[in-house]
Amino acid sequence: MDYLTGRKLGADTIRSFALGFAPKNPSDGLYRFLKSKGISDDLLRRSGLMNVDERRGTMYDKFWNRVIFPIMDTSDRIIGFGGRVMGDGKPKYLNSPETKIFDKSRNLYALNIARKTREDYLILCEGYMDVISMHQAGFTNAVASLGTSLTPGHCALLARYTKNVILSYDSDNAGINAAIRAIPMLRKAGITPRILKLEPYKDPDEFIKALGHDAMQERLRNAQNAMMFEIAVVKRDYDLGDPDGKTQFFERVAGMIAALETEMERQNYIDAVSREYMVEKRMLQELVNRNLVLGVTGLSSQQSSSAGHRSVSASDDGMDDYDPQSGYGPDDPFAYYGIGPDTEFYQDESTGSMYQAPPTAARNNRLGNVKQQGEMISRQLLLNYIAQYPSTYPTVKQYVSAEDYGETDSLTGRVAQLIYDQMEKNGKVDEASILSRFPDAADQTRIAGMFHTLDPASSRTEREKAIRETLLKVFSAASGSAGNDLQTVIRRKNQEAQLRTLRITLD
Ligand code: CTP
Ligand code: MN
Repeated sequence: MDYLTGRKLGADTIRSFALGFAPKNPSDGLYRFLKSKGISDDLLRRSGLMNVDERRGTMYDKFWNRVIFPIMDTSDRIIGFGGRVMGDGKPKYLNSPETKIFDKSRNLYALNIARKTREDYLILCEGYMDVISMHQAGFTNAVASLGTSLTPGHCALLARYTKNVILSYDSDNAGINAAIRAIPMLRKAGITPRILKLEPYKDPDEFIKALGHDAMQERLRNAQNAMMFEIAVVKRDYDLGDPDGKTQFFERVAGMIAALETEMERQNYIDAVSREYMVEKRMLQELVNRNLVLGVTGLSSQQSSSAGHRSVSASDDGMDDYDPQSGYGPDDPFAYYGIGPDTEFYQDESTGSMYQAPPTAARNNRLGNVKQQGEMISRQLLLNYIAQYPSTYPTVKQYVSAEDYGETDSLTGRVAQLIYDQMEKNGKVDEASILSRFPDAADQTRIAGMFHTLDPASSRTEREKAIRETLLKVFSAASGSAGNDLQTVIRRKNQEAQLRTLRITLD
């Protein structure tokens, strides 16, 4: 009682969370009590409440001299326990191992209470005490995982109750890493996560003790958008005082924005980032476009699904896989994006698409890469122009044929063939019918990227000039494979000269 009241818990709170205590002596008190109730050794062994000395064949209580936090399922049935030392002993918390009735990734602490909230969101905390403090302060929609890191199972459980979750993890590095890991997992479950700022306090328990209910309410109202949080975390890897560092940071951010599914989302984040980080919208837009055209979108979303989730399982001694000191797991928290400051790309000859290359291979190919990258962007941009401005097609096809976009088995080559066919037959491009030819989601994303790349030109004259330049680039790149008999070479030289002074007019 001294310990609990010392932590400012009131009688009502202690009662509603059924907090208790496992005494120091005797160390087999629970064992003997349960035996007196006629419970078999076998059942006791499987309850997770005993430590078994296999050699001697004896059992002792697992929890002793600890404050006990019973863990309930959503039907208020007790399915396991957490126990805290009263002081600085180790481990700080001891938890029941998983048993037949205690599945750590399918239950959340205090969900039995939080599920009844009238709020339209749940608060996900790191620890038992955080949840209890939150509830005591009136935030009865707080829950926590059970001495484990968050799993997809938890996310699915949360998603049954709400699509809005505010992450309220510790403000230290481990908590930040845990949040970075949790965000994509929550999104996958269809949840929109937001992040609670607790600075300068370490956790919700300490925050409430220091500042109280109203300040917490205010922080909850201002919880940060998850992607803006991710960007702020990514920023720590770069020196924004250095011009190159700054460029690399925005390139990284552009990769993250390009990975978003819809043009609407991308635009909204371009707005938000340019406002918050004071970068010109137009420049950020251009970086995002480059990412889209290169097909980074498909790549990163593929990687997000394979980013490792650690699964939770019971260990023999009931110790948890949670490590508040080092964070939650060995995973690179940013593996999700698959795009780092050193990311390089290479082109797959057969598909024409750009892939991330291992650093050394990429470095060896660097010069070839930059050139190929540029040519790829130009080809895809030209297709985008045809689709957006069908009136340019008759001029474009005089110089560049469908075959000039790549082999018919490459993605760009196939899309080009379809676009040219549609222009010949209907005089316009039907994006949906082209997309429907590609069942693969990654292909679809890349093709959608080709169509929805906003070109960097802002005025009509700039755009007319940009189209001509793009056409010229694609034409020149195709000259290499156009044959080198004298006639062809002379014809193409003449065409190139024409192209340089060609006037394209958009109406
Ligand atoms: N945890 C655990 N085993 C540990 C340490 C922590 O299972 N050895 C889990 C517990 O579920 C705990 C949560 O991680 O509630 C958060 O740990 P931590 O931040 O260290 O503790 P607090 O919640 O701040 O607990 P307290 O305020 O009691 O120190
Ligand atoms: Mn704490």
